[in-house]
Amino acid sequence: MDLAEIAGKVKTCTKCRLSENRTKAVPGEGDEDTDLLFVGEGPGRQEDQQGRPFVGRAGNKLTDILGSVSLERSQVYITNIVKCRPPENRTPKSDEIDSCLPYLEAQIAEINPSIIATLGNTATKTLLDTEEGITSARGKFYSWRGKIQVFPMFHPSYLLRNPSKEKGSPKYQTWQDIKKIKKVLRSN
Ligand code: URA
Ligand code: SF4
Repeated sequence: MDLAEIAGKVKTCTKCRLSENRTKAVPGEGDEDTDLLFVGEGPGRQEDQQGRPFVGRAGNKLTDILGSVSLERSQVYITNIVKCRPPENRTPKSDEIDSCLPYLEAQIAEINPSIIATLGNTATKTLLDTEEGITSARGKFYSWRGKIQVFPMFHPSYLLRNPSKEKGSPKYQTWQDIKKIKKVLRSN
């Protein structure tokens, strides 16, 4: 299944209750041949309106993070764990995640990135099957099914709530993290 076919299925999917309140499903977008895939939690209000991932305030923050190492959104692929907006942006429930995961799995198989950067707790816990929180999990590479590296990072929304750039702050750590990713991409 290529990415356009996956997107087509996502747009009409009714496999879980999140289909009931969505405006548009958000399959994901970016470079289909990229080495770097970002996975967030789920669409917010703007994303639900536009059908595109990370286009609101958190999205601008993600664009900034990429820009800090001269990466553009068009050079990576960006998607979410669940493709439809949870009501009031609540955390997706485990049955919703289970229903939606086959789409992400299919996207990963098609893109075959070398690094999957998981943004925040939901993406990290889902892909790494861990209960470890993002604060201790972030900034390290984990092997996923033996061939892809998973690299957890803070969610951009968390950085919006924690604007300090002081040494050791979430923002400071995130800027270190994206540099780490860039270095690994360069050496590939
Ligand atoms: N937050 C997410 O996790 N994903 C988006 O697409 C937007 C905001
Ligand atoms: Fe289908 Fe995923 Fe949307 Fe649920 S969140 S309706 S599984 S696309």
